[in-house]
Amino acid sequence: MPVDIIEIDSVDRTFGNLVALDNLNLKIPEGTIFGLIGPNGAGKTTTINCIADLLVPDSGSIRVFGKDLKLDGIAIKKDMGVLFENTADLFVYLSGEEHLRFVGEIYGLDRAAIEERMDILFEYFGLESHRWMLIEEYSKGMRKKLALASILIHNPKLIVLDEPFDGLDALSAVKVKKILMKMQESGKTILITSHILSFIEDLTDEVAIIDRGRVVFRSKTAELRTRIKDEITKETYGSLEEIFVNITRKDSNDDPEVIDWLL
Ligand SMILES: Nc1ncnc2c1ncn2[C@@H]1O[C@H](COP(=O)(O)OP(=O)(O)OP(=O)(O)O)[C@@H](O)[C@H]1O
Ligand SMILES: [Mg+2]
Repeated sequence: MPVDIIEIDSVDRTFGNLVALDNLNLKIPEGTIFGLIGPNGAGKTTTINCIADLLVPDSGSIRVFGKDLKLDGIAIKKDMGVLFENTADLFVYLSGEEHLRFVGEIYGLDRAAIEERMDILFEYFGLESHRWMLIEEYSKGMRKKLALASILIHNPKLIVLDEPFDGLDALSAVKVKKILMKMQESGKTILITSHILSFIEDLTDEVAIIDRGRVVFRSKTAELRTRIKDEITKETYGSLEEIFVNITRKDSNDDPEVIDWLL
């Protein structure tokens, strides 16, 4: 039996009257690339922020590497890298070089390892020309790449990515996909959210759809197209997008409507 690296059990999280996570249960097996998808506002970022220990659930528990996040948060975070949805956690008044060095030092890497890894990361992400520029002056995609470099410098066993492709050009996105696949080959576990469903289909071993704070669908990615769409005709789904639309459609009126006054 594969070990579950992340175990989310009956987690609730509200913001005032708004229920963001509603008795959420989700287990992520070790060594997989796992896709968490869902409509805007479904609770993906809230889930990731809870895993990152940035938000505390109202109730329920989260275990990572078999340890309780509430009790062993610091030990867990040493082996985890989390890319947040917006890159607001970057220190924008540092240069890229200063930022990456600072992150490496926080993780306790020695000087030689930091220098070596920084060189490789700046080159891999094509940021060498901006290495000494203030992050404030980076473009959106550059910030995303620097944030990615920052979560990889300590070589984490678990990588959690909230919309990593948002803002990346096509070539950069392909590079990120490649490095994620290579990291999986070396035994790492990756949890990823993205609205680019074709990427999710390409990249993941398993996928779950979250809607209104609950998991409403889960499947091995290889089996997606064998899932039955119509019980009578036994018709199967043609794509993850089709499953997504079918499952998350609130009612039959959810088909795209026309805005009359725009026509
Ligand atoms: N800090 C907050 N204060 C109040 N409400 C919040 C806060 N963070 C999230 N929410 C609410 O929680 C719900 C889930 O939001 P969340 O950001 O987790 O969605 P998401 O699935 O990541 O959506 P998206 O695809 O747009 O990124 C939304 O209704 C959102 O308005
Ligand atoms: Mg989000």
